[in-house]
Amino acid sequence: MIELLRQRRSVRKFAGQAVEPEKVKVLTEALLRSPSSRGFNPWDFIFVQDKSILSELAGAKESGSSFIKDAALAVVVCGDQSKSDVWVEDCSIASIILQLTAQSLGLGSCWVQIHKRMHSSDMTSNHYLKEVLGLPDNIAVESIIAIGYPAEEPEPIKYDFLDFDKIHTEKWEEK
Ligand SMILES: Cc1cc2nc3c(=O)[nH]c(=O)nc-3n(C[C@H](O)[C@H](O)[C@H](O)COP(=O)(O)O)c2cc1C
Repeated sequence: MIELLRQRRSVRKFAGQAVEPEKVKVLTEALLRSPSSRGFNPWDFIFVQDKSILSELAGAKESGSSFIKDAALAVVVCGDQSKSDVWVEDCSIASIILQLTAQSLGLGSCWVQIHKRMHSSDMTSNHYLKEVLGLPDNIAVESIIAIGYPAEEPEPIKYDFLDFDKIHTEKWEEK
């Protein structure tokens, strides 16, 4: 796992190649093995590979989502607000588990934030996606994870660049 984390970077440029069905299946398994508060599993995941729907997802925000159109796969991570008060945490954990599993399969990915983001000045990204995806009222989107074979290789972060001042021992230390 630490080797995976040493190499981990967000990938926003994707090769045209599709993700093989066996790999898609592993991604579904990883998601469903995610931990959630009290085991409520308040999430649902929409796997999108259709080019026209990918293009619509790419328009979820004014910036920071356009690269979804070139992804081979986007996973829309949805939370059921009526099932858990900590659906954001549960969806976030599933999102990062998905990203790390994708990386372990040789795929690149990037998180696109949807919760609390705007599609335009008078429409939330969630409202926009409700219309695109036909989401019921109790369902909100936390993130969209864009996935595909990488067409860029961002440099891994060097050990010496890590901010160890963020680590405190026993009690808060002013640094
Ligand atoms: C909660 C969260 C939301 C993010 N939202 C976006 C986003 O909307 N668009 C985007 O391009 N990247 C997004 N990212 C990716 C971050 O920009 C990226 O992780 C950060 O710049 C560090 O780069 P690295 O992942 O390559 O280490 C998000 C990451 C997280 C964890």
